[in-house]
Amino acid sequence: MKGVLLHGGFGTRLRPLTHTGPKQLIRVAGKPVSQWALEDLRDSGVRDIAIILGELGPDKVIDFYGDGSWLGMKLTYIYQGYPYGLAHAIYIAKEFIGDEPFVVYLGDNILIDGISEFVKKFIDSDADAMVLLTKVPDPRKFGVAEFDESGKLKRLVEKPKKPPSNYALVGVYFFKPPHIFRAIETLKPSWRKELEITDAIQKLINWGLKVDYSIVKGWWKDTGEVEDLLEANRILLDHKYKTQIIKGEIRGNARVEGRVFIDEGATVENNSIVRGPTYIGKNTVIGPKTYIGPYTSIGNNCKLTNVEIENSIILDNVIIEGISNRMTDSIIGSNTTIIRKHGVPRGYRFIVGEISKITINE
Ligand code: DAU
Repeated sequence: MKGVLLHGGFGTRLRPLTHTGPKQLIRVAGKPVSQWALEDLRDSGVRDIAIILGELGPDKVIDFYGDGSWLGMKLTYIYQGYPYGLAHAIYIAKEFIGDEPFVVYLGDNILIDGISEFVKKFIDSDADAMVLLTKVPDPRKFGVAEFDESGKLKRLVEKPKKPPSNYALVGVYFFKPPHIFRAIETLKPSWRKELEITDAIQKLINWGLKVDYSIVKGWWKDTGEVEDLLEANRILLDHKYKTQIIKGEIRGNARVEGRVFIDEGATVENNSIVRGPTYIGKNTVIGPKTYIGPYTSIGNNCKLTNVEIENSIILDNVIIEGISNRMTDSIIGSNTTIIRKHGVPRGYRFIVGEISKITINE
């Protein structure tokens, strides 16, 4: 079975984090969101994968993943550019797929229990396509399934105002060529001007082909918004880091408590506490006089001095110094500096990029 990982799109809802690169490369719990997806594919036995690239930082994706051999997989890159829709992104992988069954994984989706049972099920089945569904309280921002009396899939609708059920489409799809490509060829752009994979699958149902579904019971997230990234960070830290691993150094009277991962070259300096579950990247300096609380991921080459941070994601090369209030529920983009200076005039001084968000909770 081959794989197609979607790495395009604009990531509009995650600006300003996506001004400089694709949302799928944002690191949660120490790895880019799309690396969690790629590792899931690999661990399910899918190792020959095409990555679909968009206009936003395609070179960054290629630089990071290379030929995939370091992850034990073979990667091919296909450039989509403008995001004409999921169906379009899949269609441009037609030659790569040939006549093999394949799985499409949206690069911003995370399934904590992985997809291996679904890969097995699809390989053993005679279905032409299979979708994954999960029950959500408000399905209006997803594709939604409708069933007939016998429980068979009858209809799939994209982001309906009045959802026919609470079953949302998870961003992992299974297909056997060639029908899905034929279906995409007949599509017209939707109200959001995209070629929708939901509509292509609906065609397969209308043509009487066998479209199966499986229910995802474990935690799943489409990491389209800031809160989703913070939640994904918490869940991944909780599930993927089961013990304390310290490759760096703990200095002086610094303390490390619980499930903390500290990568090579990182140090925790005097009078500091790091409380897990927490991830600290390579060559990062924590302290002195610093508290890193649970559910925090810190990137590589950061320097955090005299601060308290909890339930947050700090990306690479960030400097934070002397902030007197505890920082919480925050995401700080790469190469950012936040420092407290003593002097006159007193006041806040902000040099902040477009579409940033600053909240001062007093
Ligand atoms: O996450 C599940 C949902 O994903 C499903 O419930 C919906 O049925 C499905 O349409 C999709 O909805 P979204 O609106 O969340 O899709 P989004 O535009 O965020 O794109 C999903 C991923 O695919 C994201 O990683 C960006 C990438 N993408 C998107 C488009 C439109 C591409 O690579 N190329 C594209 O043209």
